[in-house]
Order: sequence, then C-alpha cells, then structure tokens
Amino acid sequence: MKYLNILLLLFVVSTAVRAQSSLLQNPYSRDHISLNGPWHYIADPYENGYYNYRRKAFDEIGNKKGGYYDNLKQNNPMSLIEYDFDHAPTLDVPGDWNSQVEKLELYEGTVWYQRAFVVSPEKGKKYWLYFGAVNYEAHVYLNGKKLGTHKGGFTPFQFEVTDLLHEGDNFIVLKVDNARHQDEVPTVNTDWWNYGGVTRDVLLINTPDSYIQDYQLKLNPANNKEIRGFVKVEGEESEVKVAIPELKVDKAIAVDRNGYASFAIPVKKVVYWSPENPKLYEVQISSSNDMVLDKIGFRTITTEGTDILLNGKSVFLRGISMHEENPFLPGRLRGEGDIKMLFQWAKELNCNFIRLAHYPHDEKALKLADEMGLMVWAEIPVYWTISWENEATYKNAEAQLTDMIVRDKNRASIMIWSVGNETPVSEPRMKFMGGLADKVRSLDDSRLVAAALEVSQKEGEMVWTCDDPLVDKIDLVSFNEYAGWYWLTPSELSKIKFEFDIDKPVFISEFGAGALGGFHSEDRVRWSEEYQEDLYIKQIKLLTEIKQLRGVTPWILVDFRSPRRPHSVYQNFWNRKGLISNTGDKKKAFFILKDYYQKQEEAYKK
Ligand code: GCU
Repeated sequence: MKYLNILLLLFVVSTAVRAQSSLLQNPYSRDHISLNGPWHYIADPYENGYYNYRRKAFDEIGNKKGGYYDNLKQNNPMSLIEYDFDHAPTLDVPGDWNSQVEKLELYEGTVWYQRAFVVSPEKGKKYWLYFGAVNYEAHVYLNGKKLGTHKGGFTPFQFEVTDLLHEGDNFIVLKVDNARHQDEVPTVNTDWWNYGGVTRDVLLINTPDSYIQDYQLKLNPANNKEIRGFVKVEGEESEVKVAIPELKVDKAIAVDRNGYASFAIPVKKVVYWSPENPKLYEVQISSSNDMVLDKIGFRTITTEGTDILLNGKSVFLRGISMHEENPFLPGRLRGEGDIKMLFQWAKELNCNFIRLAHYPHDEKALKLADEMGLMVWAEIPVYWTISWENEATYKNAEAQLTDMIVRDKNRASIMIWSVGNETPVSEPRMKFMGGLADKVRSLDDSRLVAAALEVSQKEGEMVWTCDDPLVDKIDLVSFNEYAGWYWLTPSELSKIKFEFDIDKPVFISEFGAGALGGFHSEDRVRWSEEYQEDLYIKQIKLLTEIKQLRGVTPWILVDFRSPRRPHSVYQNFWNRKGLISNTGDKKKAFFILKDYYQKQEEAYKK
C-alpha cells in the first residue's frame, strides 16, 4: 500500500482515543508475532507533523467539519507532503535512535516511526499491540486511527486493536518524543544518556476472546509451606486451573464475579529458589480456552532486626550496580544476548545480587536473573530533583511503579523494590516518596522496600550516618556514599566512623571512583586505575567495620554514557566509574571486589 503521505492519513482519526488496557501478564508466552525490525523514521524537531502552523494538534482538529483536514483538501494539498515515510530511512526496533544515527546522538525531540505488517485476524480472538518500552512519550496510531498515548521510558504498555485490524495490509505510526521536562519522571537532570526511541520489543499478541489477563504465584511470606496467588480472567469463565506438575499441584479454582480466582495451595516439598540453587518450577495456568505457561521460583525474603533473611537464612547481598547499556553495542541493551553478557560479568565478580539502576530494565533481564541465580534491586527513575508538589508527577511515578510491579511480580529474583535515588530531603519529597513506599506495600507483601538515600554527617565530626526520615518507611538503611571520590581522599577514609541508631539492615547502594581504563600511575593519581583500586581497598575496609552491613552494590559494573561527563581526556561523555571499561577490559579494582566477595561467600557458607 502506498503511503505517499502517511501523516495526512492521521488526520482521518477519531479524536476519541482508547485507554491502554491492563497489562497482559507474561506476554511472550502468548501467541504473538514480532513487529521488530526496520521501521521507517522521520526526525521532526519542530513537531510539524503533529501541530499545524498555529500550533494546533492535527489530532484535535482532524476531520471536524471546516477543520484543518477539510481546509487542507481545499486549499493546501501540498502541506505535509514532506512527511513521506516510503522514502524515509529506517531505524532498527528495538533500539534507541541516538546510537544508530550519528546526527541523532544528542537529539532530544520527536521522531516519527512507521511500519507496515500483514495479518489475517481470526474470529473469536482478541488482538493487542504491545510495546516493551518507548522512551519517553509515545502517540500510537494504527491504520490511521489514534489508539492513545503513553508516558514513561522503561515500562510496557498495550492497546487492544481487535476492531481496527484489516485483513492483510496494516500500518502503525508512532510519534516518539524523548524531550526532558521538569515535571516528568525522570526530570531534566540524569547521569545517564537520554536514549530515545522504541527501545524494547513490539509485539502483536492474540488471545482467545475470554482470556487469562493476569496471575501471581508466590510463597506465603508467613508460611513457606503454602503457595498463594490469584488468576484474573476477562470474559465468561467459571473456573481456572493452576498446575505445578513437579509439586503434584493441579488445582481447579472458582472464578468470582469480578473475574478473580484466588488460591492458597499447601505444598510439602518445595525446593526454595536461591542464588546457589535458582530452582524454577513449570507452572500452567489454564481456563476453558486459554493456557499460559511460566517458570516461577518460590522463596521468602524478610528482615529481622539488622539481618536480611532469604528463606529464613541470613544472607549478604554481594552486589554490583548496572545501567541497561553494554559498551560493545552502543545504546540501550537490545536483547537477551546483551543482557547475558553483563550478568556473566557480575557472576565473574562473585556477585549474588545486582542493582538494576535507575529504572525498570527489560523483562528479559528479570527472567535471566531468575535462571542465573542473581537477586535483584529493581527501581523506578524517581531521581534527584523531581517536581515533588506536582500531582501529575506523582501519578506518573506511581503508574511506573505499579507497571513495574505488575509486570515482574512473578520473578523470584526480585528481592527489593526501590522507589528512587538520591532525592533531597524535604516535606513534599517525604510525602511523595512515602506515598510510593505505601503503594509498594499495597501491591506486594513478599518483597522489601528501599530507596538509594544519601549519607549524612553528624555535626562537625567524622561520624557518618543516614538520618533521612524516609528510613522509617522502608526496610533497609540504604544509601549512597562517595567517600574518597567526591569528598575526602582515599587515605582519609580511615578517619570516618559510621554509626546507626536504627534496628534495620544497612545496605550501601553506591560507592565508587572514576578510572580511565588503561591509565596507570604509581602515584595513584586521580583517574588512574590504581586510584580506583586503592579506593576500593579502603572502602571495603571502612564498610566491613559496619556490623549491620548486609549488602553493597558499588557504582558500577561497566563505564556508561552520560551527557554530564564531558572531560575530553578522561571521559568524552562516559562515566568512568565502571569496574570494566567501555572496551570490555577489567580494571584493577574489579579484582579487589571479586576477592572481597569470594571471602564473603566463604564466610557465609560456614
Ligand atoms: C550518583 C547517582 C548515579 C551517578 C553516580 C556518579 O550517586 O546515583 O546515577 O552516576 O552518583 O556520580 O557517578
């Protein structure tokens, strides 16, 4: 089909857009076709494909009598002719535009995407257009009809499109805008690259008319001999079945009038999930004409005083922080191979824990963490100076938090939901972050709540602590501290004493130093690998004096891109705190941390 001027077709849109539908749990296990691959794109810095010259959105004035479209037909058929997808270049989906097109490396604004696809919709089926993530704001059109919009660069969204699909030829147009704004989440300042685009998979999913929409299975936090959960169905269903063949569970459960089937199933011999034995069970959830398969691990994570207990046993979280970026394939991670490489490096470090900073990572990362035995700190990008008093900002943060928990609630590896990072203490911020902590507890009683807070110093002394009032609302005293890099020199660390007057586990969510891989100096000058190595030696000595210490996620596994790091000798827009350089070479500090974790692992085995 000729798309001589696709955007014109957009104006034949019904302005009434449809709501996003509730997320399908485990989309990859559903019947689907992938819409990944090359999509045509048009960069549109002034958004003239969306607004007319009076800055009125075509969506609004569309084909109303006497509206823009009518005028267009009458007196100006040439406008927008420039927006011609057929002759436009392509971008790979999934993938950000910054790393694919040199002139878009620092681009922030709108890019239009378009692709055609062929499908033969079947009667008795429902169809869903599913996006793994689009950074930051998406407007979605199918066959010239506007489906709706989504905000948030790291969480999935979907629209039901059953009634809009054509037999044979169909086409999708997306308006993607990664411009930063103060009132968004994250806000205008972040220490990571603002990768724009369709950065995760696009799927066309089909389900039976009455289908399994959502489900959760977990070990009862208060009774590890009971698996509890729910199945949510849409459509006429009187009962569903939950089967875990290896546990000889095959249970029929009645569906209530709201479509929910809740259950508590006694189980005698469960092998609990752990990093040492990441046991996953085949789970089959079925209704009269739908079936979903999953692999789920069962475990409990709790705190007791200053201890963290995994399956009732004290555990030390030997972690490392990581962004969703690997140096060999610039840009956002594109798939399982990318992710697996980073996780292998973490395993080489003797890690049993990873902090997936500072936003929800790809769903595939959590499934891989389940399989590889890596416990996870998951986080939403409530980062630095958010607009704490803006109600819409709070709603946005809460929606991203909810979508992350809804999407990943069946992943055994996730131990901690984090509601943010380094947010400055104030009354409005306390209300905002406290609300998010409450939201987590209302959605999930089987995981810990945390945030990466900031270290504080007792007046005039070298006694350091974390006296952020948010500590009362979360389960860990979790904070970032950069002694020896942003404050003091490594040799001054021995003057610091940490003191905590709260009976909770202490978790250091960041420490670190920059080093340019391959730059060596006997004098351990700043930016040398030896400086970073020395910092790690002295930080580990300092932190192991904290008797309540139960975990660390040093900053960071690999060097990563940041617009805040322009130093032309040492950085070139890379944050150099990685233990691995952007060429994949391990720096000297890598082996210091690896050794420390080896000793920690042996100590906890005893
Ligand atoms: C902060 C922040 C990170 C940042 C790091 C740094 O603690 O949480 O996102 O990259 O420090 O300064 O390198």
